[in-house]
Amino acid sequence: METIIVEGGHRLQGTVTISGAKNAALPILVSSLLTEGWNVYDNVPDLRDIRTIKKLLTELGARVETEEDVVKINTSALESHEASYDLVKTMRASVLVLGPLLARLGRARVSLPGGCAIGARPINLHIKGLEQMGADISLEHGYIDARARSLKGADIYFDIVTVTGTENLMMAATLADGVTILRNAAREPEVVALADTLNQMGAQITGAGTPVVTITGVDGLKPASVTIIPDRIETGTFMIAAGVTGGDIKIVGCEPAHLAAVIHKVRQSGITVEEEPHGLRVVCETTISSVDVKTIPYPGFPTDMQAQFMVLMCLASGLSVISETIFENRYIHVSELQRMGADIKVSGSTAVIQGGKPLTGAPVMATDLRASASLILAGLAAEGTTEISRVYHIDRGYEAIEKKLAQLGARIRRTRG
Ligand code: EPZ
Repeated sequence: METIIVEGGHRLQGTVTISGAKNAALPILVSSLLTEGWNVYDNVPDLRDIRTIKKLLTELGARVETEEDVVKINTSALESHEASYDLVKTMRASVLVLGPLLARLGRARVSLPGGCAIGARPINLHIKGLEQMGADISLEHGYIDARARSLKGADIYFDIVTVTGTENLMMAATLADGVTILRNAAREPEVVALADTLNQMGAQITGAGTPVVTITGVDGLKPASVTIIPDRIETGTFMIAAGVTGGDIKIVGCEPAHLAAVIHKVRQSGITVEEEPHGLRVVCETTISSVDVKTIPYPGFPTDMQAQFMVLMCLASGLSVISETIFENRYIHVSELQRMGADIKVSGSTAVIQGGKPLTGAPVMATDLRASASLILAGLAAEGTTEISRVYHIDRGYEAIEKKLAQLGARIRRTRG
């Protein structure tokens, strides 16, 4: 089992380049199911989850070619409409094939994803929306079995803002008969990037990035050629890395407009964040001030940055309160941080952090993608050495994180233990 070993106490400085966004690339690669011909995607990050979705598309009959960060996908010869449990259980975003397969083939059989470390994460809103569009859906033997002779436009209201729910139904609606309206839709940059890609393919989508998205169905789409947007969560993670090491980091290739809430909170903590022509410069020269944070749907503070920000608050002077409103179990990293000396108390969806207690290195275990990033950040700040196990979690969403951090001066290495 691989581990990552971090020796704390080294100031990070230098320049890091941000990779393409995992959560934009996943739905965009899946959108290739909607059309024949060769789709070309540039700036695709080399991540475990990307390899999983390419494997799933190949199993459906797609031809997938990868050359460095360029991925080409051709689904002219789809042979299957089934996404197996083996693949879906490793990555719940696999459910994104449901809408496109229904739109393209009128048939889809996708394993129910089941829960994950951070919560139950049901997909009832995906299913309810597709049923409103005329799909017949049954749940048996752990699978969603969906059929639709033809999908029809519908007026759909999401009881809860759902990112992949919005993306799944948006893709299904591109080829439906008539107009679909998605109300209380997710507004994330990754949703907008998908809409831009679909419109380039000939779809008719307006309102992406606002709570009301309108999709007018068309008869067919043509292949896309797009560049994946930069990863705002990787960007935020490196901003925190500068903060926890008193560093000075230039983050290039990022899109500051995609993480305004994070920049605001990091600045509130006393860290200097300057927008530059090619990205951001983040400099931490003062003691960190405590800042309260509440995670809410975009454009609010993202839940995917909650664990990382908590580490910064462990180093702050004073008391801070974090409220996690998106997932019901996204404090698994707290017990690991407590083993490193953090003073954190959790009650329901609220965590109270008493900052200023020195962190000390310890053997810790990663449990989910962003929690594992927070453990690396804590290791960078801790006195002594931190060994993080189950690092396959981090490889799902961060491209060569230890190489990027080492280039900034971190003492970090991966062991093939
Ligand atoms: C997306 O997950 C992201 N994944 C997650 O990033 C991110 O944390 C999450 O959005 C929230 O921003 C991808 O984009 C691939 P949701 P998603 O549907 O779409 C409830 C990472 O680290 N809900 O927006 O699965 C759900 O339980 C990952 O990269 C229902 O109740 O999240 C949650 O409480 C982790 N029924 C809330 O909505 C549904 O049908 C938001 O979930 C759908 C969702």
